[in-house]
Amino acid sequence: MSRPVTDQSRPKRIRQVTFATALWLVALASVSAWAGPYGNSAHGDTVNGVARGDLAPPGPYAVGNCAHCHEQHASMGGVEPAPASGSPSPFALFAPGFESSRRYKPYQTTDVMCFGCHADSSLQVPLGSLLNYDYARAFGGYDSGGPESILEAFNQNPAGPDASYHNLYDVWNHAKRFPYFKDASAPCDACHNPHRARRNREFPQNPEYTALSRPTEHESLWGDAPEERMNAYGGSYQSPLFFGSRMTYEPGGVGEIGADGSKTPDYVSYCNDCHRERIRSNTLMRDMVAIDWKTGGGDSAAAGDKHGSNGFTGSIFMKKPYEKIAVPAGGYVLSCMDCHEAHGSPNAYLVRRSVNGEALGGVFTQDRSGNSWAYLCGRCHQDDYQQGGMTDPNQVNRWRTVHHGGTGSDGSDVPYQTGGGGNCGTCHEQSPGPQPIGCGYCHFHGAYCDSTHPGTLPNGKTIPAPLGGVRRTF
Ligand code: HEC
Ligand code: HEC
Ligand code: HEC
Ligand code: HEC
Ligand code: HEC
Ligand code: HEC
Ligand code: HEC
Ligand code: HEC
Repeated sequence: MSRPVTDQSRPKRIRQVTFATALWLVALASVSAWAGPYGNSAHGDTVNGVARGDLAPPGPYAVGNCAHCHEQHASMGGVEPAPASGSPSPFALFAPGFESSRRYKPYQTTDVMCFGCHADSSLQVPLGSLLNYDYARAFGGYDSGGPESILEAFNQNPAGPDASYHNLYDVWNHAKRFPYFKDASAPCDACHNPHRARRNREFPQNPEYTALSRPTEHESLWGDAPEERMNAYGGSYQSPLFFGSRMTYEPGGVGEIGADGSKTPDYVSYCNDCHRERIRSNTLMRDMVAIDWKTGGGDSAAAGDKHGSNGFTGSIFMKKPYEKIAVPAGGYVLSCMDCHEAHGSPNAYLVRRSVNGEALGGVFTQDRSGNSWAYLCGRCHQDDYQQGGMTDPNQVNRWRTVHHGGTGSDGSDVPYQTGGGGNCGTCHEQSPGPQPIGCGYCHFHGAYCDSTHPGTLPNGKTIPAPLGGVRRTF
């Protein structure tokens, strides 16, 4: 294909030719299997690896050949595939890494080079061979519903206000701070290395097959080495339950022995390569909080999250497998993936469809009022029903005991006194009885409650400080 040679296009063109030559040499050097990390990768696998349309056998290129992603020259095999976009990208990919004018979902297959194959309608042959589920299913075992391709994961319920996704423009834009990441890179390559990613989904209990590379360590895998796993947190990690089971755990239904994080990549270091700082979200139209999973400090405003290294204070009332009796010294450190998906979710904030062995009771909404956030908390924390010995179904998803104390519970740690009965309307709407107060006003990453937090709610009620003055509430 000829195009006018201008001062601007010349350097690009030279780079493509050099690139194709490099591929040519690599292709010549290898006979049937690729040596090194690419040969061990999902894409380079000679049986299950890349195989794009007519290029795949009986076409000119073996399964796993670079040419299924990189355009090579006609001399390579007598076939000159038409680049999907009409012109090749600077990495000589068959389509541009990213269509950066796409600022929001829904995404199209042509927006990201990877969606050419990782979508329901795929260039990969045989058709239908490429199934990618969400984390709740692939590692958590929740095998009903949910997306079946990566494109579908990003595009869930596109019309609904609550379905969420990692905004690919924001990720792409943010990732440019990492030296390897170029304008022409696919946003996916902020979190994956397509030359190294392995087939963890086939071996969910074995993180040597991790699909991940940290943005700060792009040229190696993350989670394959023993020190890159959740058991690096000094015994403070506990795997959540596998879906529908009381005896087996994530990932993939391991037993007690594997439930210590030794089979789970260290998602905290991975996600916090980006999230330890404030980041701009165009979807949310604001900066997101920096996630502090490291700082201790108990109930002080400057402390870190209690779901991270900061320990719980006083007493807690947990469900299996986080019961009081098993709590490690200093408390638990959770993995980001215990609560979140990586690509997209039908819930707000990438919250998983199932957590700790059970599906959420309903949609986790973006709206902070109401008690939809309790659908998440109730997977691990005891609601009034659990605390009451499981008798009265009206107590399901009610949260009086942990805030006010109750019969049979340890009342010394409750944050809010009910003050003898007369003051309920200070905090609650009263029609007919005390109505729930939106969990999201007080519980979120970085949150604490004191005399000015949460302050005055949209209904005009100002919540007084909890007992103790300040409590760290996430
Ligand atoms: C030509 C088709 C094709 C393209 C383009 C493609 N992939 Fe893949 N991808 C595959 C196939 C085939 C597998 C192996 C599937 C399996 O597990 O059987 C795979 C596997 C993966 C895996 C490992 C997890 C798994 O499903 O086994 C990751 C991660 C991945 N791809 C990411 C990417 C990224 C990121 C891009 C874009 C830079 C990309 N892929 C582009 C075909 C493709
Ligand atoms: C913010 C980081 C991040 C981004 C961006 C990202 N991924 Fe992933 N991806 C992950 C994590 C974490 C996992 C492992 C957990 C899982 O399977 O959901 C994963 C898993 C995968 C898998 C394996 C799924 C399976 O079947 O087990 C594929 C394939 C994949 N990603 C492709 C992509 C593609 C294509 C894109 C870009 C459109 C992309 N990813 C963008 C973090 C990311
Ligand atoms: C699954 C698709 C896929 C396959 C298969 C693949 N690549 Fe790539 N390659 C990419 C993508 C995407 C990029 C762009 C890098 C980025 O997005 O940051 C790239 C970039 C490169 C680069 C430039 C790296 C840089 O940082 O400038 C080289 C060289 C390369 N690939 C060589 C190869 C060779 C050789 C093979 C086969 C052994 C191969 N690739 C197979 C997707 C692929
Ligand atoms: C116990 C469950 C849980 C764990 C574990 C968890 N999150 Fe969250 N995350 C949530 C909830 C609930 C929200 C929505 C409330 C909010 O914005 O903080 C959220 C929101 C977020 C947001 C959006 C913040 C904003 O300003 O809107 C980011 C980013 C995030 N989480 C990243 C992480 C990372 C990174 C980790 C691991 C270090 C992690 N999360 C661990 C439950 C969790
Ligand atoms: C007005 C602020 C506020 C609201 C609204 C609120 N909480 Fe709390 N919550 C707190 C405070 C303060 C604590 C005490 C934290 C501590 O133990 O130090 C707490 C503690 C908790 C705990 C920890 C229990 C334990 O065992 O220690 C859970 C779980 C919880 N809340 C869930 C919820 C749910 C679910 C909702 C919504 C239905 C909700 N909260 C609404 C302030 C609030
Ligand atoms: C995946 C399980 C899980 C989910 C989901 C979860 N938590 Fe927790 N939460 C824990 C664990 C485990 C601890 C104890 C952490 C420690 O030991 O330091 C904890 C601690 C807390 C504490 C500290 C209590 C204290 O006494 O200091 C609060 C407050 C809390 N969670 C609130 C929430 C709220 C609100 C939600 C829902 C939005 C939620 N959690 C969802 C597992 C979970
Ligand atoms: C390469 C940088 C990068 C990495 C790594 C990364 N994120 Fe993000 N994340 C972003 C950016 C940029 C945004 C803002 C765009 C958006 O809202 O989707 C974001 C947004 C989010 C949100 C809010 C999404 C919303 O709109 O409600 C959550 C939750 C989140 N990330 C969780 C995670 C988790 C969990 C991981 C690890 C599996 C992770 N992130 C890894 C860059 C990253
Ligand atoms: C200082 C503020 C405050 C005062 C005063 C207060 N509450 Fe609460 N109450 C809360 C918070 C915070 C929650 C936890 C969020 C939720 O479940 O609504 C809660 C929860 C409840 C719940 C569970 C609601 C549900 O359906 O989930 C009941 C019932 C309740 N309180 C009753 C009372 C009664 C009765 C009084 C007066 C005797 C009272 N409260 C006074 C803050 C207060």
